[in-house]
Amino acid sequence: MLSQVMQNAINDQINNELFSSYSYLSMSAWCEYEQFVGSAQWLRIQSQEEQAHALRLKDFLLARHCRVTFRTIEQPETTYESLVDVFEKSLAQEQRVTGQIDKLYELAFQEKAFAALVELEWFITEQVEEEKSAREIVHKLKMVQADPSSLLDMDRELGQRSAPPEMGV
Ligand code: FEO
Repeated sequence: MLSQVMQNAINDQINNELFSSYSYLSMSAWCEYEQFVGSAQWLRIQSQEEQAHALRLKDFLLARHCRVTFRTIEQPETTYESLVDVFEKSLAQEQRVTGQIDKLYELAFQEKAFAALVELEWFITEQVEEEKSAREIVHKLKMVQADPSSLLDMDRELGQRSAPPEMGV
């Protein structure tokens, strides 16, 4: 059985992942409104991935026969200055989540929650990937932002991201 402090912390992280999902959905809506449909698609898939992260933690709690508590999801930002701004905020969000996962891992270590440590290792690896792809996109967008035709090419490229089959996006 997981300690109460560990259960609370995992429930908090479920909320963090759902906020992340909500925030990506807001970014996606902004992009679609601004006619960056490829970026909107990329961000919509990312939103689904964040939801999958929340569900993964929910399933873990239930597998340990612990209660799941869904908390209020904060309102995300709704306006952005530019496409670069959107992806800079996405990178900042991923860096925040990495910090949250690291703290959760540290807590699991202190609590001797060995099954949670194994589960959280998946998240640690995932965060490395997510920060890396957000950083690459920010870097490329900054290079092309002054050239509308290159920016549109980049948007088209982002729209080629396809959802993993189980997500059905
Ligand atoms: Fe679930 Fe991108 O953090």
